[in-house]
Amino acid sequence: MILRKSAKEIELMAAAGAVVASTLALAHERLEPGITMVELDRILEEHIVSHGAKPTSKGYKGYPAATCISPNEMIVHGIPGPYAAQEGDVISVDVGVTKDGWITDSCATFGVGEISTEAQALLDACQAALDAGIEAAQLGAVIGDISEAVQTVVEGAGFSVVRTLVGHGVGKHYHEDPQVPNFVTSYRGPELREGMTIAIEPMITAGGPDVYIHDDGWSISSEDGSLTAHFEHTVAITADGPRVLTRPARVLVP
Ligand code: MF3
Ligand code: CO
Repeated sequence: MILRKSAKEIELMAAAGAVVASTLALAHERLEPGITMVELDRILEEHIVSHGAKPTSKGYKGYPAATCISPNEMIVHGIPGPYAAQEGDVISVDVGVTKDGWITDSCATFGVGEISTEAQALLDACQAALDAGIEAAQLGAVIGDISEAVQTVVEGAGFSVVRTLVGHGVGKHYHEDPQVPNFVTSYRGPELREGMTIAIEPMITAGGPDVYIHDDGWSISSEDGSLTAHFEHTVAITADGPRVLTRPARVLVP
């Protein structure tokens, strides 16, 4: 069942989204060689809490940290640990926050210092795929239009879309209907209607599309060890077009 949100509820989600956006901006600022993932997670959790919000991931199905931080070949759900960022890494930081009962979800992949040309191309393609997916999220379109837009950009750049992980509705719950795949199937999904709020999140690799779950039961990496990228925004479907609820404000970090 797709839960649509009123204009007032979308404003509440946008307030949660502002916290997510400033948290990711802070992650970008602090992600320098030497910082450990667990240190970064602590900094981000403090930021979230000091802005009157809660990290949605913490305790979600038993997840042990505030954020998911996934370096290099790890694509999602990395549990922040002792790994220290190194020059040339690409590190995905996935943040969900709950504020006044409303959740938004966003992720960005950041390069640490100088990164390779291929790594930069991967990040650029994933960001462009997310932008295309958002642009396709128009009233009257269907979920499959978003999927197609994302897949076209990613595969056009020579990269692969992961099949076993998908975007999702978001609101009172972290994961709501509908699913938002990053690839096309014969089922093109429900029509986009006013008040739907969805997390669009291309998860891509520089190699093949297959992934595996680590023994910790959470972290997921590319099967072939290739570099990965993940960008995500929470988007509301409105009569004026897609509204990104997790876009950074002009002043990124207060
Ligand atoms: N933010 C993730 C998503 O996009 C969900 C993380 S769930 C967690 O769906 F428990 F791993 F944090
Ligand atoms: Co998500």
